[in-house]
Amino acid sequence: MLDQAAVLADRLRSARSVKVVSHIDADGLTSAAVAVRALERLGKPYEVEFLKSLRPPDVERLKDENPDTLWFTDLGAGAAALLSDVEPVITDHHVPTAGGRYHLNCHFSGEDGSRYLSGSTTTYLVARAIDRANRDMAPVAVVGCVGDLQDTDAGRLVGMNAAIVEDARAAGMLAAVDTRYFGRETRSLVKILQYADDPCVPGVSGRGEACAQFLDGLHVAHHHGEDERRWGHLSTEERRRVLSAIAKSLLSKGYGHRAVRRLVGEVYVLPGEAQGEPVRDAKEFATLLNSTARYGAADVGLAIALGDRGEMYARGLELLKGHRQNLVAGIQLVKEKGLTERNHLQWFDAGSGIRETIVGIVAGMMYNAAGVRRDLPIFAFAEADAEHVKVSGRAARSLVAAGVNLAEVMRVAAGKVGGAGGGHAPAAGATIPRAKRDEFLAAADDAIGEQLAGRKA
Ligand code: C5P
Ligand code: ZN
Repeated sequence: MLDQAAVLADRLRSARSVKVVSHIDADGLTSAAVAVRALERLGKPYEVEFLKSLRPPDVERLKDENPDTLWFTDLGAGAAALLSDVEPVITDHHVPTAGGRYHLNCHFSGEDGSRYLSGSTTTYLVARAIDRANRDMAPVAVVGCVGDLQDTDAGRLVGMNAAIVEDARAAGMLAAVDTRYFGRETRSLVKILQYADDPCVPGVSGRGEACAQFLDGLHVAHHHGEDERRWGHLSTEERRRVLSAIAKSLLSKGYGHRAVRRLVGEVYVLPGEAQGEPVRDAKEFATLLNSTARYGAADVGLAIALGDRGEMYARGLELLKGHRQNLVAGIQLVKEKGLTERNHLQWFDAGSGIRETIVGIVAGMMYNAAGVRRDLPIFAFAEADAEHVKVSGRAARSLVAAGVNLAEVMRVAAGKVGGAGGGHAPAAGATIPRAKRDEFLAAADDAIGEQLAGRKA
């Protein structure tokens, strides 16, 4: 991969100008930031465009623009076959449909693109090959990995990502062992316990009052005067007391050591950022970025990823508030609607109630919610435009281990109904004609059934 990264670096060095095309999530924004910093250091003229997904009409339009050099980051692998005639630079981790002279993707080395490398860390390998000074972008690249949940299974980044964490540490990022719960910087202690879902705090999560009582019982103050205490305010000893009590509770309620192990993991901290700010914690940083481009404000997210802590950062914080409200409302809507089960999957259709750009996040959160079956993949639909619906799929690792590959399911089932899709084995998406939703579901159900039966979909 490093040899191939050097080939891409040479190609970019010889470019006259570069058009970077990237994805509208945290991984895509950080990928673009890494690419932009590398191009700035090279002194190349560049422009950046962000896309929800790279569809055949986008490919045609980009080709018609006749740019000197196209650089696809965190997308492009799924469209590699359509792009082969223009030989673009591609740094991606999605399941590729074709190779290419300047295509860097860990799948070609037989590695799993959902945890070995993200779009941002793949892009980082090329940036580093262009100029060692670009190692200052390693922390931002790590934020992209965490945004793509690449640390979720092992509780830390693994594979080549772990090597890039070493670069990030040299650039000032800390990798610490601490709680994996979301909100270490910005959420109150009570809210962290209230929203805890992986693992939950038995009898406490989901109930605000019970969270406060739980902390009272441990003699851990949840307020300091009028102010709510956050995780960062706790002493090491207090953190240990809280986590031990949760572990004890999980074990006594029969959750087992696996759930306990998920309580702590490696967390990635940017100590140069102010305390209590989302950009200090990689997970919260990623959520902040997701709050921008998914709402059409990619310029805000890109500026923040490149280091803006002024006007654009303030706009990002406003967008983050809206994003949080939308996620809460989205979960509520799904809980009211409920899930419909088929043989090999469960699904819901949010209609226009959830934005198509965040329906995948809602599906992922819902999948972790108490009472939701983990032995069936979840499919979530949301209106895309007058004629199309977006579908997001999520599958537990145990299902992937049993043969489920949602990238393939999306490609095959969407293809059957005149849509297009792809992604990763455990998380994939597609856009399909609205009228074909049920036909798509039937095809997806069959495809998953065949994968589980060990036949090729
Ligand atoms: O949108 P969502 O979060 O569900 O996307 C999950 C994964 O599927 C992402 O990696 C995304 O790039 C991919 N995807 C795709 N084609 C689509 C929609 C999503 O490859 N049409
Ligand atoms: Zn990605």
